Amino acid sequence: VSATGRTAADVLLDGESIAAVLAPGSTLLGHDLAASVDTVIDATGKYVIPGGIDAHTHMQLPFGGTSASDTFETGTRAAAWGGTTTIVDFAVQRTGERVQDGLAHWHELAAGNCAIDYGFHQIVGGVDADSLAALPGLIDEGISSFKMFMAYPGVFYADDAQILRAMQVAADTGLLTMMHAENGPVIDVLAEQLIEKGKTSPYFHGVARAWQMEEEATHRAIMLSHLTGAPLYVVHVSAKQAVEQLAWARDNGQNVFGETCPQYLYLSLEDQLGASSEEWGDFEGAKWVCSTPLRSKHEGHQHHMWQALRTNDIQMVSTDHCPFCMKDQKTLGQGDFRAIPNGIGSVEHRMDLMYQGVVTGQITLERWVELTSTTPARMFGMYGKKGVIAPGADADIVVYDPAGHTSIGLGTRPDGSPTGRSHHMNMDHSAWEGYEIDGHVDTVISRGKVVVDDGAYVGAPGDGRFVKRGLSQYLI
Ligand code: URP
Ligand code: ZN
Ligand code: ZN
Repeated sequence: VSATGRTAADVLLDGESIAAVLAPGSTLLGHDLAASVDTVIDATGKYVIPGGIDAHTHMQLPFGGTSASDTFETGTRAAAWGGTTTIVDFAVQRTGERVQDGLAHWHELAAGNCAIDYGFHQIVGGVDADSLAALPGLIDEGISSFKMFMAYPGVFYADDAQILRAMQVAADTGLLTMMHAENGPVIDVLAEQLIEKGKTSPYFHGVARAWQMEEEATHRAIMLSHLTGAPLYVVHVSAKQAVEQLAWARDNGQNVFGETCPQYLYLSLEDQLGASSEEWGDFEGAKWVCSTPLRSKHEGHQHHMWQALRTNDIQMVSTDHCPFCMKDQKTLGQGDFRAIPNGIGSVEHRMDLMYQGVVTGQITLERWVELTSTTPARMFGMYGKKGVIAPGADADIVVYDPAGHTSIGLGTRPDGSPTGRSHHMNMDHSAWEGYEIDGHVDTVISRGKVVVDDGAYVGAPGDGRFVKRGLSQYLI
Protein backbone atom coordinates (compact mmCIF):
# COMPACT_ATOMS: atom_id res chain seq x y z
CA VAL A 1 0.00 0.00 0.00
CA SER A 2 1.35 3.39 -0.90
CA ALA A 3 -0.06 6.89 -0.63
CA THR A 4 -1.25 6.63 -4.20
CA GLY A 5 -2.70 3.14 -4.43
CA ARG A 6 -2.58 -0.51 -3.56
CA THR A 7 -1.42 -3.48 -5.53
CA ALA A 8 -0.35 -7.08 -5.01
CA ALA A 9 3.45 -7.26 -5.28
CA ASP A 10 6.64 -8.85 -4.06
CA VAL A 11 9.18 -6.53 -2.48
CA LEU A 12 12.81 -7.53 -2.93
CA LEU A 13 15.23 -6.23 -0.32
CA ASP A 14 18.99 -6.17 -0.73
CA GLY A 15 20.98 -5.21 2.33
CA GLU A 16 19.61 -1.99 3.76
CA SER A 17 17.68 -1.00 0.65
CA ILE A 18 14.72 -1.92 -1.45
CA ALA A 19 15.99 -3.45 -4.68
CA ALA A 20 12.74 -3.97 -6.57
CA VAL A 21 8.98 -4.07 -6.38
CA LEU A 22 7.83 -6.92 -8.60
CA ALA A 23 4.56 -8.26 -9.88
CA PRO A 24 3.58 -11.49 -8.08
CA GLY A 25 5.14 -14.50 -9.77
CA SER A 26 8.03 -12.51 -11.24
CA THR A 27 11.30 -14.33 -11.74
CA LEU A 28 14.78 -13.08 -10.95
CA LEU A 29 17.12 -13.64 -13.92
CA GLY A 30 14.97 -16.58 -14.88
CA HIS A 31 14.86 -18.09 -11.39
CA ASP A 32 11.89 -18.39 -9.12
CA LEU A 33 12.05 -15.39 -6.76
CA ALA A 34 11.49 -17.32 -3.51
CA ALA A 35 14.23 -19.78 -4.43
CA SER A 36 16.73 -17.01 -5.18
CA VAL A 37 16.67 -15.12 -1.89
CA ASP A 38 17.94 -15.78 1.64
CA THR A 39 14.74 -15.02 3.50
CA VAL A 40 11.07 -14.93 2.57
CA ILE A 41 8.52 -13.13 4.69
CA ASP A 42 5.05 -14.25 3.69
CA ALA A 43 2.72 -11.25 3.82
CA THR A 44 -0.22 -12.93 2.13
CA GLY A 45 -3.44 -11.28 3.27
CA LYS A 46 -1.57 -8.47 4.99
CA TYR A 47 -0.67 -4.91 4.15
CA VAL A 48 2.93 -4.06 3.33
CA ILE A 49 3.49 -0.37 4.02
CA PRO A 50 6.43 2.01 4.28
CA GLY A 51 7.53 2.23 7.92
CA GLY A 52 5.79 4.87 9.98
CA ILE A 53 7.48 8.24 10.44
CA ASP A 54 6.61 10.03 13.66
CA ALA A 55 7.80 13.57 13.06
CA HIS A 56 7.07 14.88 16.55
CA THR A 57 8.57 13.17 19.60
CA HIS A 58 10.21 14.38 22.80
CA MET A 59 12.46 11.68 24.21
CA GLN A 60 14.04 12.82 27.49
CA LEU A 61 12.63 16.34 27.10
CA PRO A 62 13.44 18.50 30.15
CA PHE A 63 10.09 20.05 31.05
CA GLY A 64 8.25 21.18 34.15
CA GLY A 65 11.11 20.41 36.54
CA THR A 66 11.52 16.83 35.28
CA SER A 67 12.31 15.00 32.03
CA ALA A 68 10.12 12.96 29.70
CA SER A 69 10.29 9.38 30.94
CA ASP A 70 11.20 7.64 27.67
CA THR A 71 14.87 7.64 26.81
CA PHE A 72 15.93 7.36 23.19
CA GLU A 73 16.41 3.67 23.89
CA THR A 74 13.03 2.89 25.44
CA GLY A 75 11.08 5.30 23.27
CA THR A 76 12.45 4.20 19.91
CA ARG A 77 12.04 0.54 20.86
CA ALA A 78 8.38 1.17 21.67
CA ALA A 79 8.07 3.06 18.38
CA ALA A 80 9.48 0.06 16.49
CA TRP A 81 6.99 -2.22 18.22
CA GLY A 82 4.24 0.00 16.91
CA GLY A 83 5.37 0.06 13.29
CA THR A 84 7.29 3.33 13.32
CA THR A 85 10.75 3.13 11.75
CA THR A 86 11.79 6.78 11.92
CA ILE A 87 11.23 9.50 14.49
CA VAL A 88 12.06 13.16 14.26
CA ASP A 89 12.75 14.36 17.79
CA PHE A 90 13.21 17.91 19.01
CA ALA A 91 16.74 18.91 19.96
CA VAL A 92 16.44 21.58 22.62
CA GLN A 93 18.25 24.87 22.90
CA ARG A 94 17.48 25.86 26.43
CA THR A 95 17.22 29.55 27.17
CA GLY A 96 20.74 30.84 27.78
CA GLU A 97 22.34 27.93 25.92
CA ARG A 98 23.88 28.12 22.42
CA VAL A 99 21.85 26.43 19.66
CA GLN A 100 24.94 24.41 18.66
CA ASP A 101 25.43 23.19 22.24
CA GLY A 102 21.80 22.14 22.59
CA LEU A 103 22.08 20.19 19.35
CA ALA A 104 25.37 18.54 20.33
CA HIS A 105 23.83 17.46 23.62
CA TRP A 106 20.90 15.90 21.76
CA HIS A 107 23.25 13.92 19.53
CA GLU A 108 24.94 12.57 22.67
CA LEU A 109 21.63 11.45 24.13
CA ALA A 110 20.53 9.63 20.97
CA ALA A 111 23.71 8.24 19.42
CA GLY A 112 24.08 4.49 19.80
CA ASN A 113 20.82 4.16 21.72
CA CYS A 114 18.11 4.17 19.09
CA ALA A 115 16.26 1.11 17.81
CA ILE A 116 15.20 2.92 14.62
CA ASP A 117 16.45 5.82 12.53
CA TYR A 118 16.05 9.30 13.95
CA GLY A 119 16.32 12.89 12.84
CA PHE A 120 16.08 16.14 14.73
CA HIS A 121 14.19 19.38 14.52
CA GLN A 122 15.71 22.23 16.51
CA ILE A 123 13.77 23.93 19.30
CA VAL A 124 14.88 27.53 19.47
CA GLY A 125 14.39 28.37 23.10
CA GLY A 126 15.78 31.88 22.95
CA VAL A 127 15.60 33.95 19.77
CA ASP A 128 18.48 36.43 19.86
CA ALA A 129 21.27 37.55 17.54
CA ASP A 130 23.35 34.45 18.33
CA SER A 131 20.62 31.89 17.75
CA LEU A 132 19.44 33.67 14.59
CA ALA A 133 22.98 33.54 13.27
CA ALA A 134 23.16 29.81 14.09
CA LEU A 135 19.99 28.86 12.22
CA PRO A 136 21.31 28.71 8.62
CA GLY A 137 24.11 26.36 9.74
CA LEU A 138 21.54 23.79 10.84
CA ILE A 139 20.87 22.89 7.21
CA ASP A 140 24.38 21.45 6.79
CA GLU A 141 23.78 19.44 9.97
CA GLY A 142 20.77 17.79 8.34
CA ILE A 143 18.27 19.76 10.39
CA SER A 144 15.92 21.63 8.10
CA SER A 145 13.19 22.68 10.53
CA PHE A 146 12.97 24.51 13.83
CA LYS A 147 10.22 25.04 16.37
CA MET A 148 9.19 28.13 18.27
CA PHE A 149 6.64 28.51 21.05
CA MET A 150 3.98 31.21 21.30
CA ALA A 151 3.12 29.47 24.61
CA TYR A 152 5.04 28.84 27.85
CA PRO A 153 6.26 32.36 28.79
CA GLY A 154 9.49 32.12 30.72
CA VAL A 155 10.41 28.70 29.33
CA PHE A 156 10.68 28.44 25.54
CA TYR A 157 8.47 31.41 24.63
CA ALA A 158 9.11 33.64 21.62
CA ASP A 159 7.28 36.94 21.23
CA ASP A 160 6.04 38.30 17.89
CA ALA A 161 9.17 40.33 17.25
CA GLN A 162 11.35 37.28 17.80
CA ILE A 163 9.13 35.14 15.60
CA LEU A 164 9.30 37.74 12.85
CA ARG A 165 13.10 37.74 12.88
CA ALA A 166 13.35 33.96 12.89
CA MET A 167 10.84 33.66 10.07
CA GLN A 168 12.86 36.14 8.03
CA VAL A 169 15.84 33.80 8.37
CA ALA A 170 13.63 30.85 7.44
CA ALA A 171 12.37 32.63 4.34
CA ASP A 172 15.95 33.35 3.25
CA THR A 173 17.30 29.85 3.85
CA GLY A 174 14.48 27.35 3.22
CA LEU A 175 14.25 26.25 6.84
CA LEU A 176 10.73 25.20 7.78
CA THR A 177 9.21 27.07 10.73
CA MET A 178 7.25 24.88 13.14
CA MET A 179 4.97 26.67 15.57
CA HIS A 180 3.38 25.85 18.88
CA ALA A 181 0.42 28.17 18.35
CA GLU A 182 -1.23 29.08 21.63
CA ASN A 183 -1.29 32.54 23.19
CA GLY A 184 0.79 31.79 26.29
CA PRO A 185 0.55 35.14 28.09
CA VAL A 186 -3.27 35.08 27.99
CA ILE A 187 -3.45 31.41 28.96
CA ASP A 188 -1.17 32.01 31.93
CA VAL A 189 -3.49 34.74 33.27
CA LEU A 190 -6.55 32.51 32.84
CA ALA A 191 -4.73 29.68 34.61
CA GLU A 192 -3.74 31.93 37.49
CA GLN A 193 -7.32 33.14 37.89
CA LEU A 194 -8.62 29.56 37.98
CA ILE A 195 -6.09 28.62 40.65
CA GLU A 196 -7.10 31.67 42.71
CA LYS A 197 -10.69 30.38 42.60
CA GLY A 198 -9.56 26.99 43.89
CA LYS A 199 -9.99 25.29 40.51
CA THR A 200 -6.78 23.30 40.72
CA SER A 201 -7.60 19.88 39.23
CA PRO A 202 -6.18 18.66 35.89
CA TYR A 203 -9.40 19.37 34.00
CA PHE A 204 -8.85 23.11 34.41
CA HIS A 205 -5.65 22.87 32.37
CA GLY A 206 -7.94 22.44 29.38
CA VAL A 207 -10.28 25.21 30.50
CA ALA A 208 -7.40 27.69 30.77
CA ARG A 209 -5.99 26.76 27.37
CA ALA A 210 -9.03 28.12 25.55
CA TRP A 211 -9.55 27.31 21.88
CA GLN A 212 -9.84 31.03 21.16
CA MET A 213 -6.18 31.39 22.09
CA GLU A 214 -5.21 28.54 19.75
CA GLU A 215 -7.19 30.10 16.92
CA GLU A 216 -5.73 33.53 17.64
CA ALA A 217 -2.13 32.33 17.78
CA THR A 218 -2.59 30.22 14.66
CA HIS A 219 -3.88 33.26 12.82
CA ARG A 220 -1.00 35.40 14.07
CA ALA A 221 1.53 32.79 12.96
CA ILE A 222 -0.17 32.61 9.55
CA MET A 223 0.01 36.38 9.10
CA LEU A 224 3.68 36.48 10.11
CA SER A 225 4.27 33.67 7.63
CA HIS A 226 2.46 35.66 4.95
CA LEU A 227 4.43 38.80 5.73
CA THR A 228 7.82 37.11 5.68
CA GLY A 229 7.17 34.51 3.00
CA ALA A 230 8.34 31.73 5.32
CA PRO A 231 6.36 28.51 5.00
CA LEU A 232 4.68 27.50 8.25
CA TYR A 233 3.97 24.15 9.91
CA VAL A 234 1.65 24.31 12.92
CA VAL A 235 2.20 21.45 15.35
CA HIS A 236 -0.37 19.59 17.47
CA VAL A 237 -3.50 21.34 16.17
CA SER A 238 -6.53 20.50 18.32
CA ALA A 239 -9.15 23.25 17.86
CA LYS A 240 -11.43 23.14 14.83
CA GLN A 241 -11.13 26.93 14.66
CA ALA A 242 -7.37 26.59 14.23
CA VAL A 243 -8.01 24.13 11.40
CA GLU A 244 -10.30 26.72 9.81
CA GLN A 245 -7.49 29.26 9.98
CA LEU A 246 -5.13 26.85 8.24
CA ALA A 247 -7.74 26.04 5.60
CA TRP A 248 -8.35 29.74 5.02
CA ALA A 249 -4.64 30.43 4.62
CA ARG A 250 -4.20 27.52 2.23
CA ASP A 251 -7.20 28.68 0.21
CA ASN A 252 -5.45 32.05 0.04
CA GLY A 253 -2.49 30.32 -1.55
CA GLN A 254 -0.22 30.32 1.47
CA ASN A 255 2.28 27.51 1.97
CA VAL A 256 1.08 26.50 5.45
CA PHE A 257 0.55 23.07 6.97
CA GLY A 258 -0.94 21.50 10.05
CA GLU A 259 -0.31 18.39 12.07
CA THR A 260 -2.66 16.77 14.54
CA CYS A 261 -2.17 13.91 16.99
CA PRO A 262 -4.23 10.82 17.87
CA GLN A 263 -5.34 12.34 21.18
CA TYR A 264 -7.15 15.14 19.38
CA LEU A 265 -9.00 12.65 17.20
CA TYR A 266 -10.14 10.30 19.94
CA LEU A 267 -10.07 11.96 23.35
CA SER A 268 -12.00 14.88 24.79
CA LEU A 269 -11.92 17.29 27.71
CA GLU A 270 -14.97 15.49 29.09
CA ASP A 271 -12.99 12.24 29.28
CA GLN A 272 -10.54 14.15 31.43
CA LEU A 273 -13.25 15.76 33.57
CA GLY A 274 -14.89 12.40 34.19
CA ALA A 275 -11.63 10.62 34.97
CA SER A 276 -11.32 9.37 38.52
CA SER A 277 -9.66 6.39 40.12
CA GLU A 278 -9.03 4.82 43.48
CA GLU A 279 -5.34 5.58 43.21
CA TRP A 280 -5.55 9.16 42.09
CA GLY A 281 -9.08 10.51 42.68
CA ASP A 282 -9.80 13.30 40.22
CA PHE A 283 -6.06 13.75 39.73
CA GLU A 284 -6.46 10.80 37.34
CA GLY A 285 -7.13 13.46 34.68
CA ALA A 286 -3.42 14.40 34.81
CA LYS A 287 -2.76 11.48 32.43
CA TRP A 288 -4.30 13.55 29.65
CA VAL A 289 -2.68 16.90 30.42
CA CYS A 290 -1.01 18.02 27.22
CA SER A 291 -0.73 21.21 25.19
CA THR A 292 -2.61 22.04 23.12
CA PRO A 293 -5.19 20.44 25.43
CA LEU A 294 -7.94 17.93 24.76
CA ARG A 295 -11.00 19.79 23.47
CA SER A 296 -14.66 19.54 24.44
CA LYS A 297 -16.63 16.91 22.56
CA HIS A 298 -19.67 19.22 22.62
CA GLU A 299 -17.88 21.61 20.27
CA GLY A 300 -17.20 19.06 17.51
CA HIS A 301 -13.41 19.41 17.31
CA GLN A 302 -12.74 15.67 16.98
CA HIS A 303 -15.25 15.21 14.18
CA HIS A 304 -13.89 18.25 12.37
CA MET A 305 -10.33 16.97 12.73
CA TRP A 306 -11.12 13.66 11.01
CA GLN A 307 -12.78 15.63 8.23
CA ALA A 308 -9.69 17.83 7.92
CA LEU A 309 -7.60 14.69 7.46
CA ARG A 310 -9.77 13.78 4.49
CA THR A 311 -9.86 17.25 2.93
CA ASN A 312 -6.12 17.77 3.42
CA ASP A 313 -6.64 20.85 5.58
CA ILE A 314 -4.47 18.82 7.99
CA GLN A 315 -1.66 16.93 6.27
CA MET A 316 -0.02 14.77 8.92
CA VAL A 317 -0.50 12.86 12.14
CA SER A 318 2.36 12.75 14.64
CA THR A 319 2.17 11.83 18.30
CA ASP A 320 3.87 14.69 20.19
CA HIS A 321 5.08 11.76 22.31
CA CYS A 322 6.08 13.30 25.64
CA PRO A 323 5.48 10.77 28.43
CA PHE A 324 5.57 11.47 32.14
CA CYS A 325 4.83 8.92 34.85
CA MET A 326 1.97 9.56 37.24
CA LYS A 327 3.84 8.36 40.29
CA ASP A 328 6.66 10.88 40.54
CA GLN A 329 6.20 13.26 37.60
CA LYS A 330 2.58 14.19 36.89
CA THR A 331 2.08 14.38 40.67
CA LEU A 332 4.28 17.48 40.76
CA GLY A 333 1.03 19.21 39.83
CA GLN A 334 -1.18 17.83 42.57
CA GLY A 335 -3.03 20.86 43.92
CA ASP A 336 -1.99 23.06 40.98
CA PHE A 337 -2.60 21.90 37.41
CA ARG A 338 -0.02 24.42 36.16
CA ALA A 339 2.76 22.27 37.56
CA ILE A 340 1.67 19.04 35.83
CA PRO A 341 4.31 18.20 33.21
CA ASN A 342 2.56 18.49 29.83
CA GLY A 343 2.48 15.50 27.57
CA ILE A 344 0.97 12.19 26.50
CA GLY A 345 2.88 9.10 25.37
CA SER A 346 1.61 7.53 22.15
CA VAL A 347 4.65 6.74 20.01
CA GLU A 348 3.84 3.03 20.13
CA HIS A 349 0.20 3.39 19.19
CA ARG A 350 0.03 5.91 16.35
CA MET A 351 -0.04 3.43 13.46
CA ASP A 352 -2.69 1.31 15.19
CA LEU A 353 -4.82 4.25 16.28
CA MET A 354 -4.76 5.77 12.81
CA TYR A 355 -5.54 2.39 11.24
CA GLN A 356 -8.77 2.50 13.25
CA GLY A 357 -9.71 5.44 11.04
CA VAL A 358 -9.53 3.03 8.11
CA VAL A 359 -11.58 0.43 9.96
CA THR A 360 -14.29 2.95 10.83
CA GLY A 361 -14.37 4.48 7.36
CA GLN A 362 -12.90 7.86 8.28
CA ILE A 363 -9.89 7.62 5.96
CA THR A 364 -8.75 5.34 3.16
CA LEU A 365 -5.94 2.84 3.46
CA GLU A 366 -3.84 5.02 1.16
CA ARG A 367 -4.52 8.12 3.25
CA TRP A 368 -3.40 6.20 6.34
CA VAL A 369 -0.01 5.64 4.71
CA GLU A 370 0.14 9.20 3.45
CA LEU A 371 -0.63 10.78 6.85
CA THR A 372 1.73 8.57 8.84
CA SER A 373 4.67 8.03 6.48
CA THR A 374 4.75 9.57 3.03
CA THR A 375 3.85 13.15 3.87
CA PRO A 376 6.12 13.25 6.94
CA ALA A 377 8.97 12.09 4.68
CA ARG A 378 8.29 14.79 2.11
CA MET A 379 7.53 17.50 4.65
CA PHE A 380 10.81 16.98 6.43
CA GLY A 381 13.14 16.27 3.56
CA MET A 382 13.52 12.48 3.69
CA TYR A 383 11.37 11.28 0.81
CA GLY A 384 12.99 8.79 -1.52
CA LYS A 385 14.96 7.24 1.33
CA LYS A 386 11.94 7.16 3.64
CA GLY A 387 8.17 7.21 3.19
CA VAL A 388 7.96 5.03 0.10
CA ILE A 389 8.42 1.43 -1.04
CA ALA A 390 10.44 1.88 -4.20
CA PRO A 391 13.84 0.81 -5.53
CA GLY A 392 16.63 2.71 -3.80
CA ALA A 393 14.61 3.56 -0.72
CA ASP A 394 15.71 2.40 2.71
CA ALA A 395 14.16 -0.97 3.47
CA ASP A 396 11.87 0.39 6.21
CA ILE A 397 8.81 -1.78 5.94
CA VAL A 398 5.89 -2.81 8.11
CA VAL A 399 3.74 -5.88 7.58
CA TYR A 400 0.37 -5.01 9.07
CA ASP A 401 -2.24 -7.67 9.69
CA PRO A 402 -5.77 -6.31 9.31
CA ALA A 403 -7.15 -9.54 10.79
CA GLY A 404 -4.98 -9.23 13.92
CA HIS A 405 -5.88 -7.57 17.17
CA THR A 406 -4.08 -5.27 19.61
CA SER A 407 -5.11 -4.47 23.18
CA ILE A 408 -3.62 -1.29 24.55
CA GLY A 409 -2.93 -1.61 28.21
CA LEU A 410 -1.73 0.21 31.25
CA GLY A 411 1.78 -1.10 31.69
CA THR A 412 2.24 -0.96 35.45
CA ARG A 413 0.18 0.38 38.31
CA PRO A 414 1.55 3.11 40.60
CA ASP A 415 2.63 0.44 43.10
CA GLY A 416 4.64 -1.19 40.33
CA SER A 417 2.39 -4.24 39.89
CA PRO A 418 1.66 -5.28 36.31
CA THR A 419 -1.78 -4.74 34.92
CA GLY A 420 -1.93 -7.84 32.78
CA ARG A 421 -1.73 -6.04 29.50
CA SER A 422 1.30 -4.12 28.53
CA HIS A 423 2.77 -1.52 26.30
CA HIS A 424 6.48 -0.90 25.89
CA MET A 425 6.81 2.79 26.58
CA ASN A 426 8.51 3.75 29.84
CA MET A 427 5.33 4.94 31.53
CA ASP A 428 3.39 3.72 34.55
CA HIS A 429 0.06 4.32 32.82
CA SER A 430 -1.43 4.68 29.39
CA ALA A 431 -3.56 7.46 28.02
CA TRP A 432 -5.03 4.74 25.80
CA GLU A 433 -5.88 2.19 28.45
CA GLY A 434 -8.59 -0.16 27.27
CA TYR A 435 -8.39 0.69 23.56
CA GLU A 436 -8.98 -2.39 21.45
CA ILE A 437 -7.44 -2.20 17.99
CA ASP A 438 -8.62 -4.11 14.95
CA GLY A 439 -5.24 -4.73 13.38
CA HIS A 440 -1.76 -5.70 14.41
CA VAL A 441 1.84 -4.82 13.59
CA ASP A 442 3.35 -8.18 12.64
CA THR A 443 6.78 -7.52 11.20
CA VAL A 444 8.89 -4.39 11.22
CA ILE A 445 11.97 -4.05 9.05
CA SER A 446 14.32 -1.16 9.69
CA ARG A 447 16.91 -0.57 6.96
CA GLY A 448 16.73 -4.22 5.97
CA LYS A 449 16.95 -5.66 9.47
CA VAL A 450 13.92 -7.34 11.01
CA VAL A 451 13.48 -5.59 14.37
CA VAL A 452 9.98 -6.84 15.19
CA ASP A 453 9.20 -10.42 14.23
CA ASP A 454 5.65 -11.65 14.69
CA GLY A 455 5.13 -9.07 17.41
CA ALA A 456 8.42 -9.82 19.24
CA TYR A 457 11.22 -7.25 19.41
CA VAL A 458 14.45 -8.69 17.99
CA GLY A 459 16.47 -5.52 17.38
CA ALA A 460 19.11 -3.80 19.49
CA PRO A 461 19.97 -0.30 20.68
CA GLY A 462 22.18 1.32 18.08
CA ASP A 463 20.36 -0.20 15.10
CA GLY A 464 19.01 3.29 14.43
CA ARG A 465 21.13 5.93 12.74
CA PHE A 466 20.88 9.70 12.52
CA VAL A 467 19.10 10.80 9.36
CA LYS A 468 20.53 13.93 7.78
CA ARG A 469 17.46 15.54 6.32
CA GLY A 470 17.25 17.80 3.30
CA LEU A 471 15.00 20.82 2.91
CA SER A 472 11.25 20.26 3.01
CA GLN A 473 9.99 18.92 -0.29
CA TYR A 474 6.92 21.11 0.20
CA LEU A 475 8.93 24.28 -0.40
CA ILE A 476 7.72 26.12 -3.48
O1 URP B 1 2.05 18.73 26.00
C1 URP B 1 2.96 18.74 25.20
N1 URP B 1 2.70 18.97 23.95
N2 URP B 1 4.23 18.53 25.61
C2 URP B 1 5.37 18.58 24.79
C3 URP B 1 5.86 19.95 24.50
C4 URP B 1 5.18 20.58 23.32
O2 URP B 1 4.66 21.67 23.46
O3 URP B 1 5.17 20.00 22.24
ZN1 ZN C 1 4.30 22.26 21.47
ZN1 ZN D 1 5.72 18.64 21.17
